[in-house]
Amino acid sequence: MNRSTKEVALGILPPPLLSNESNIKAYRSQAAFYDATLGIVFAQGRRRALEVLAPQAGERVLEVGVGTGLSLPLYPPGLKLTGIDLSPEMLHRAERRVLGRPGIQLLQMDAQAMNFPDGSFDKAAAMYISSVVPDPAAMLRELNRVVRPGGLILILNHFSDPASLMSRCEILLQPLTRRLGFHPYFPLQLFLQSTGFVPERVESVKPFGYWTLLAGRAKPATSKA
Ligand SMILES: C[S@@+](CC[C@H](N)C(=O)[O-])C[C@H]1O[C@@H](n2cnc3c(N)ncnc32)[C@H](O)[C@@H]1O
Repeated sequence: MNRSTKEVALGILPPPLLSNESNIKAYRSQAAFYDATLGIVFAQGRRRALEVLAPQAGERVLEVGVGTGLSLPLYPPGLKLTGIDLSPEMLHRAERRVLGRPGIQLLQMDAQAMNFPDGSFDKAAAMYISSVVPDPAAMLRELNRVVRPGGLILILNHFSDPASLMSRCEILLQPLTRRLGFHPYFPLQLFLQSTGFVPERVESVKPFGYWTLLAGRAKPATSKA
């Protein structure tokens, strides 16, 4: 089937595919200037995400796509905090940021296929990674598996509004998807349908309300499907 922009926009076809390989390459190039660019743009959202996540001493918390670790100083002490990322270059910067801080483990790992046993965490955060991973449904399945049933899963991302003018620009950017390292056009409805994630909280996040925070609970294993 031929891929047309209109079909992609309508959600009939998936947008141009990202791969782990293309992401590793994209974030290898971005790592050196990430903190001074997107790192700053995303700062308010990260702070809000941490308020909603409200990690408590003693909790086991996972952050997937931890990047250069800009969120790590926002977590209180006394947690068992694990951050994973696919990009060695991004992760290396995160490691330098938290050097010597106890209770933090950083691992190179794919958020779509994690090595943790079921129910390993009380809470998990995925900030600005849902439109980055090639298979968001696989990432959500994994988050649902590694967070204990009833534990909090927090997603922070930009989601496109197909009715908006902005989404037309995002569609125009789709040919650059691999280089950007994320899907510029990423409708919320498609995300929720494809992942089965049922948020109990949906909140617009600054700057400009362009990003959305979703918070929901990990389902018991029996109702995973
Ligand atoms: C836009 S950055 C967000 C980084 C960080 N969360 C922040 O708030 O700045 C997306 C991150 O997701 C990572 N990533 C991409 N694919 C991944 C995967 N399959 N598993 C884990 N991390 C991945 C990238 O390497 C990059 O560090």
